[in-house]
Amino acid sequence: MLDNKLEEKLSGIRTPFYYYEMDVLGLTVDNIKREADRYGFKVHYALKSNANPKILRILSSSGFGADCVSGNEIEMATECGFSSEDIVFAGVGKTDEEIITGIDNDIFCFNVESAEEVSIINDLSRKKEYISRISLRINPNVEANTHKYITTGIEESKFGINMRDIEDVTSLLGKLDNIELLGLHFHIGSQIRQMDAFKRLCSRINEILGWFEAHNVPVRHINVGGGLGINYDDPEELPDFAEYFGIFNEHLERNDEQVIHFEPGRSVTGQSGSLITRVLYVKKGTQTDFAVVDAGMTDLIRPALYSAHHKIENISSVKKHGKYNVVGPICESSDSFGKYIDLPETHRGDLLAIRSAGAYGEVMASNYNLRKKAVSVFSDEI
Ligand code: LLP
Repeated sequence: MLDNKLEEKLSGIRTPFYYYEMDVLGLTVDNIKREADRYGFKVHYALKSNANPKILRILSSSGFGADCVSGNEIEMATECGFSSEDIVFAGVGKTDEEIITGIDNDIFCFNVESAEEVSIINDLSRKKEYISRISLRINPNVEANTHKYITTGIEESKFGINMRDIEDVTSLLGKLDNIELLGLHFHIGSQIRQMDAFKRLCSRINEILGWFEAHNVPVRHINVGGGLGINYDDPEELPDFAEYFGIFNEHLERNDEQVIHFEPGRSVTGQSGSLITRVLYVKKGTQTDFAVVDAGMTDLIRPALYSAHHKIENISSVKKHGKYNVVGPICESSDSFGKYIDLPETHRGDLLAIRSAGAYGEVMASNYNLRKKAVSVFSDEI
């Protein structure tokens, strides 16, 4: 639970805002570094999960690389200290302008998703007398058993190249002078809590590596994507990076030359952030009272978009418990953070913390209803 003493510290700050616990982030970063370094794994932080410059600077100075999905993310990553030789660039719809940003920044690798994209990167690179390094994003057709909106690795998906098309792509590569193939890229989905999915991914990658070996196509780099989930029921619990990296070490059949890359996002920043909001009104409902708060789906869209659960705590009150529907001010019925939530008796003015909001929170905010975006507050600055 967020400390009730925190209320005093936070009460003067205009709500809603994102509150980042820097010790939690620091501990998470240390765990990742320790466990990944054990096996020489290379970690590229997925900027899409949280691109707050202060957080990015901490991650770049801790030795993480960056996983970017837009030209602007590449620019933000380099501004915040990530070295371009540690930047990978993924995305099924890279524009020419974004590809040129990647080329101009001399990034480590484009993770490419179609034969046509490879040709376009080749053309744009030729014009700049440049050789682009690429990895082929292969659709491994592995079920991740997560929310359908964030499942990416099954066959009928817009992401990646299917194995049945891979021979055409590799023979095309032989004809392109401005492309160097570094390796392969995979990603099966996000918020994966069943470790078996990663074991299945490893087995599938082993089979695919067999195909590449049989066809004499060298694979130096294997990028297994991101996807490690967090426990939204228990914000104090950090992901088990020892188990996660251990699975890839044990199940991936790599040779000594091959480097394994990861792209975690949620598991890095998720548990360090909370959305802090103030109760505006408590309104009688037929069965459950409504706590109407000043944060809405514009600040944290996950509950509205994915029916995602975030633990909610009242950090102002410790009195006896009641049940509340915690809802935002936006004119949409989906603007709700949770139904029948167990909270201490809640009143106008109380501060609520919507936990585990460090990933895919601030970055997915919008100005719908012309609302201002929530600011970020860091525990080491107050
Ligand atoms: N690599 C690729 C190619 C990805 O598509 C993603 C996430 C990641 C890495 C990072 O995955 P993570 O470690 O964060 O699971 N907005 C959704 C999540 C979308 C994830 C998209 N791709 C949510 O709020 O749950």
